Amino acid sequence: MTAAFTIAIDGPAAAGKGTISKAVAAHFGFKHLDTGLLYRAVGAKTLLGMDPIKAAQALKAEDLHASDLRSPEVAQAASRVAVLAEVRAALVDFQRSFARRQGGAVLDGRDIGTVICPDAEAKLFITADADVRARRRYEELAGKGGGLRYEQVLAEVRERDARDRDRAAAPLVPAKDAALIDTSQMSIEDAILAAISVIEERRS
Ligand code: DC
Repeated sequence: MTAAFTIAIDGPAAAGKGTISKAVAAHFGFKHLDTGLLYRAVGAKTLLGMDPIKAAQALKAEDLHASDLRSPEVAQAASRVAVLAEVRAALVDFQRSFARRQGGAVLDGRDIGTVICPDAEAKLFITADADVRARRRYEELAGKGGGLRYEQVLAEVRERDARDRDRAAAPLVPAKDAALIDTSQMSIEDAILAAISVIEERRS
């Protein structure tokens, strides 16, 4: 089995991070952690009336499998709890120990290359124009029969971007040593190939 090797993949909502991370993990035979799910699980608990810090401190692995974590309401709640430094602090150890597991790990989120794993062997920052990201998210949600309007999805993407970028604790910003991939004009297949080629370079 390969020794620990951490791939940090950050970027704004709906840039293609999740799909790229899963494909990269499958390609290298690494385990994948979608760190957004941690914040979504905490956000979902606050929608049920729980205190966000207590919810983060008591988070269990099975909470990541709760249904409806992908809904737009939970996404906004996740972005709101993610502003709180105490919530972020409660989630650090779990992410770091996942990152250093034997056999290699891919973590995707907002602060993996900057705060959680500043020494990651490979770092990517995946981005795309806000309107392209909103269009993709709209098509994904429309396919599930959400009854949303495109303008509403675009407004939510912009709101979440602003909150994630402007917060004081671990704001969304590319690590200095991250390779930037802008997927606005790329097919998902090309974006995956570009990501794999950056990582191959860092592995050699
Ligand atoms: O990646 P996602 O859309 O599932 O993330 C949901 C929210 O969680 C996002 O708007 C900000 C927050 N988040 C974060 O602050 N840090 C991370 N590493 C991952 C997600």
